[in-house]
Amino acid sequence: MHIDGTAALVSGGASGLGEATARRLVANGAACTILDRNAERGEALAKELGGATTFVAADVTDPAQVGEAVEQAARSAPLRIAVNCAGLGLATRLVDRSGSPHDLDAFRFVVNVNLIGTFNVMRLAASAMVGTEPLDDGERGVIVNTASVAAFEGQIGQIAYSASKGGIVGMTLPAARDLSPSGIRVLTIAPGVMDTPLLGLLPDEGRQALAAGVPFPKRLGTPDDFSALVVHLCQNAYLNGEVIRLDGGLRMQPR
Ligand SMILES: NC(=O)c1ccc[n+]([C@@H]2O[C@H](COP(=O)([O-])OP(=O)(O)OC[C@H]3O[C@@H](n4cnc5c(N)ncnc54)[C@H](O)[C@@H]3O)[C@@H](O)[C@H]2O)c1
Repeated sequence: MHIDGTAALVSGGASGLGEATARRLVANGAACTILDRNAERGEALAKELGGATTFVAADVTDPAQVGEAVEQAARSAPLRIAVNCAGLGLATRLVDRSGSPHDLDAFRFVVNVNLIGTFNVMRLAASAMVGTEPLDDGERGVIVNTASVAAFEGQIGQIAYSASKGGIVGMTLPAARDLSPSGIRVLTIAPGVMDTPLLGLLPDEGRQALAAGVPFPKRLGTPDDFSALVVHLCQNAYLNGEVIRLDGGLRMQPR
């Protein structure tokens, strides 16, 4: 699919991987709508990128707010690209050292934002895409979700996060199958350790230790590595229903 002239929606687009994705989609000619709950950063980025870029303050778990963002995105051009980057982590064990169980609401919260939020954006964006005119090859759109290598190798303390990301991996093929009659592809990226504001909170030694664990290249992944893959997934029409690791060959250890 040619990105130029399409409308794109990027959840979590105010920071990190989503921000880099919004920047690259705009550079490739998309009218980009940034959906994020961080209004300050989202508005500043939309202003900086200018042109047809818009920002909608929304929580991915809220049907009405996401519905508005999808409507806004589809206003300027046919909505053909939706990228799910909104997400968060939590470090809590199933049972902690003092024997207390994992808080159930904390587990629900992570699954709600990462998994159900992704589903919510996917269903509403796909419904808008279904209503667009197909391109010459029958394609109407592409949805790219963000899981994590923690979907496969969750570390100690990642049980809620891994469950939420494993759910995104599990949705990928059935979503692609459900949407295949409409010519909409669904793909998921499972990043390794990426250098985003999230990771920037770690001290330098911590970041270096993480980078040393990557087989090659021996560095953290960058938001640009991620956004370059998103653009490729949009452009390569034969990629569908797949989860792609973006991790320099990293396999996470228990801790
Ligand atoms: N950074 C990494 O190493 C890494 C690795 C694997 C997977 N991921 C995943 O990539 C995605 C992006 O992470 P990042 O590192 O860019 O983080 P980030 O914190 O820089 O960006 C996440 C963005 O999502 C937004 N967000 C969070 N909850 C939201 C909600 N309920 N509704 C709307 N917006 C919400 C935040 O405001 C923020 O702007 C996440 O899903 C994360 O789990 C990150």
